[in-house]
Amino acid sequence: MPVVVNTLQELIRELHNAFSDDRVNVEYIHELMQSYKSNRQEWSHFAKFDRHRYTRNLVDEGNGKFNLMLLCWNEGQGSSIHDHSDAHCFMKMLEGELFEVRFPWPTESQSQDEELKSFAESRIGVNEVCYINDSMGLHRVENRNHSNTAVSLHLYCPPFEACNMFDQRTGRQTKCPVTFWSKFGHKTDLTTCRSVTKVKD
Ligand SMILES: [Fe+2]
Repeated sequence: MPVVVNTLQELIRELHNAFSDDRVNVEYIHELMQSYKSNRQEWSHFAKFDRHRYTRNLVDEGNGKFNLMLLCWNEGQGSSIHDHSDAHCFMKMLEGELFEVRFPWPTESQSQDEELKSFAESRIGVNEVCYINDSMGLHRVENRNHSNTAVSLHLYCPPFEACNMFDQRTGRQTKCPVTFWSKFGHKTDLTTCRSVTKVKD
């Protein structure tokens, strides 16, 4: 039977049900995320923008099984090339459009300082969902539009506090803590957050 969720609250409830056991059914989560039709009124409370970089805004902690968050992209903002710390990553567009550019992992045999060359690129429009995990490579996400902002809904399972970021020119990686700009609609103290989530290699 096709999955139907009518509101963001319903989506969150169904996600909690879906993650109540420890197996992750990627296809079903994808369907749930796809089924929700973006309604700005339901998520605007969580949508916080920053002039200088895209923001991560926590919506739900998924009983410790997953994190659901809104990412808010100002005009022209993008992420670095990154991995996903062995987690599943689902990304659904709520407003605007994003481009997802995929890169291979730097290979063991790759000599140092070799450029990472993208192998795929896709445009993600409103209500579309894309999925990635580390076995599929790395990616960078970009709002290429210089007059429109974009908002995307991300689910990470299990939640993670750090990931690797990659320099496109050299393939070199750096472990970076991931922080929240807001949690449950309230601005976080990023300084505190950074010190809490700081990860040493
Ligand atoms: Fe990502």
